Amino acid sequence: MSTIHEEMKHDKFKAKAVLDSKWLEEEIQYVLQKIDENLDLFTEKVPPAASTNLMYIPEDNNDWTASFWIGMLYLAYEYTGNDKYLDVIKTQLESFSERLTKNIQLETHDIGFLYSLSCVAGYQVLKDETAKEIAIKAADKLITRYHQKAKIIQAWGDLSDPEQLGRMIIDCNMNLPLLYFASRETGNQKYYNIAVNHAKQAAKYIVREDASTYHTFYMDTENGEPLYGKTAQGYTDQSCWARGQAWGVYGFALSYVHTGDREFLDIAEKLANYFLNRLPDDNICYWDLVFTEGKEERDSSAAAIMACGLLELSKNLPVSHQYKEVYENAAIKMIKSLAESYTTKKVHSNGILLHAVYSKPDNNGVDDCCIWGDYYYLEALIRTVMSWKMYW
Ligand code: GLY
Repeated sequence: MSTIHEEMKHDKFKAKAVLDSKWLEEEIQYVLQKIDENLDLFTEKVPPAASTNLMYIPEDNNDWTASFWIGMLYLAYEYTGNDKYLDVIKTQLESFSERLTKNIQLETHDIGFLYSLSCVAGYQVLKDETAKEIAIKAADKLITRYHQKAKIIQAWGDLSDPEQLGRMIIDCNMNLPLLYFASRETGNQKYYNIAVNHAKQAAKYIVREDASTYHTFYMDTENGEPLYGKTAQGYTDQSCWARGQAWGVYGFALSYVHTGDREFLDIAEKLANYFLNRLPDDNICYWDLVFTEGKEERDSSAAAIMACGLLELSKNLPVSHQYKEVYENAAIKMIKSLAESYTTKKVHSNGILLHAVYSKPDNNGVDDCCIWGDYYYLEALIRTVMSWKMYW
């Protein structure tokens, strides 16, 4: 067992949380209506990472966030069975193929987000063999970022960039499923080994003993030794960036799903406790978990990711586990809170979730919509109504 400790400190999620099916259907219909309104605008182009004054302005497929839109289209298609989504999915898939062939802005570990939600999903949902081949090529590209000695995948930048050399980040746990997929489909263990090594290093160095997380951590790539933790989007190097913690919960739960190593599930659980212990009354986290009250911005996108992570965590725990239902209750309460007070229902916007924060230190996308928040909100809703097979 790991040496990481964090117990749930209060009973606020013990009472059974229930989702009314009519309410849920209306909420999903709201999200589908927003997607439908955006179909023409985002056929060739994609929504950017964050909205400007609550409006997503179309851009080319060149950021790390380009796949959240196609991910939403697959969810919409799976839920409704309506063919109207397929033409846009096809156009978007072509764009992801071209992006890989032309190597457009792929010096990033987020190849995982990009090609899980576009091509792995395309293979899974549409049985598209070409999408499968592209996903495997994307995995080949991702593993070029692996440092053998440090046993980590470098997050950002050219591998020769001294500022980014040997830097891993908590978000990367969400990129590993592309590698698990590639191993499964090719029978080649190398992708799996890299993913597991990286997840173990993240567990060892990014996760602190109190179950909080660094956003990023530097490793010495020459001798494999740990160097130091540093934030990029959090409040301080020692604080706990809320979205990073959410990526951690969901990401470690996914490494458990793909490896069966219970240590990963145990870590996801401790990280979840840390997060749940620091929520304000309406259960939507501040952008950094150092804040538990006051006027700092919330990050609705972190709450949406967390709701999905908690549902996945709960699903994988045994019936007798003391927090199995607690995690599910917490996820449901977050979904309800998002629906009641954090959607665009009463404002002019082409986004779905209000009050997300992309990067507060960079004053980028602060208190706007973030496209991954919209995606994970829909994923969370879909998880509560369908036996949904993950794209991760
Ligand atoms: N993965 C980058 C972010 O969450 O902002």
